[in-house]
Amino acid sequence: METKLIKVCRPKPEAELLQPAVQALQRGEIVAFPTETVYGLGAVWNRPEAVREIFRVKGRPQDNPLIVHETSVERMKFYFAEWDAVADLLARTFCPGAFTLIMKKSPAVSSPVTAGLDTIAVRIPEHPVPRLLIELCGQGLAAPSANISGRPSPTNAADAWEDLQGKVPFIIDGGPCDFGVESTIVSWTSGKLELLRPGGVSAEAIEAALAAAGLNIPLLRPSSLQLPPGAVPRAPGMKYRHYAPQARVHVLTGASTEEKFSHLRKLAEEKRLGAKPTFYISRHLADRLHAELPELAERAGAVIAFSEEKSHAAAAQGLFAAFRQLDRLGASDIWAEEQSSDHVGAAYMNRLLKAAAGDKQGVLPPREEERE
Ligand code: TXA
Ligand code: MG
Repeated sequence: METKLIKVCRPKPEAELLQPAVQALQRGEIVAFPTETVYGLGAVWNRPEAVREIFRVKGRPQDNPLIVHETSVERMKFYFAEWDAVADLLARTFCPGAFTLIMKKSPAVSSPVTAGLDTIAVRIPEHPVPRLLIELCGQGLAAPSANISGRPSPTNAADAWEDLQGKVPFIIDGGPCDFGVESTIVSWTSGKLELLRPGGVSAEAIEAALAAAGLNIPLLRPSSLQLPPGAVPRAPGMKYRHYAPQARVHVLTGASTEEKFSHLRKLAEEKRLGAKPTFYISRHLADRLHAELPELAERAGAVIAFSEEKSHAAAAQGLFAAFRQLDRLGASDIWAEEQSSDHVGAAYMNRLLKAAAGDKQGVLPPREEERE
């Protein structure tokens, strides 16, 4: 299949350029597009053949459900069996945005997107491209991240192209994604509010919104999402890696730049960095690496530095793109800098730890490791 790239303007995508992709979606084909989190691979949600094609192209296990994307809270309500004060508060506070809500599905909803579950995940992207696509299609779009299952999610059109070229008719290029990690997923079922995946909307922000509204409901975090502050505990390997590049991923641990730098120096002295080590570290640490460990800087396959400022967000935004770039350079090992796991740092550390699962240098593997 020939894949066409459609480049649109980010703040105001041109409807006429999107038309061929809209027609493809309406014919039951699948199309990759940008969102503010990561690129998605979309199909009209209630066309079962099209939705099955997503699973086929991604190589995604059949039992892993998809998120439906919509344009408004009013339209979001259609998919759910019930709507209450908690749902209303969460939707009105965090939608549109990097936030996905899971609740019991409406009996009117029947689609392979739910993978047979009685719940459904819905999100309202803020990005103008999916919003316009949904409007022009007149239907919600089911969309997982646009990677082949197990690989890092694409956060720019070139990375989506790498995985999907020849497999889909259109990839829409709307530039790089703002967050670079997937949406926060919250499940609100049977009176339990659970954070299933940390993302662009922080757990702290959700808790603050609940408290401000006087709703006394705890946000439960599965133990696989909890990390002791500043520590990256040790545990043996696991079955699959996730969000993972080809290279081995390691966490460069430390509570401060000083600690991380000492860790790095020690690893270098002990020759434990790998045959062709590469680095994904803050600008500050990169400067010290170049200044104080010039031989290592020389030997390193690459050093990709993210900004010191708002380092959580900057680290998250570039992580998946860095994984892919370092793979293309033939890195044997990727050393990515630890960030504290509060706010968006939780999303960064979650993705990094999953990619590093099984790292002999010692990383906490997540409990659930289903492939996405
Ligand atoms: O930011 C995002 O959420 C991106 C963009 C494209 O919107 N999408 C995304 O989709 O990350 P995906 O399929 O890669 O991840 C969705 C996750 C999967 O882990 C899936 O198991 C979970 O959401 N999920 C979907 N529906 C669910 C449900 N009913 N119950 C539990 N988990 C669900
Ligand atoms: Mg995914």
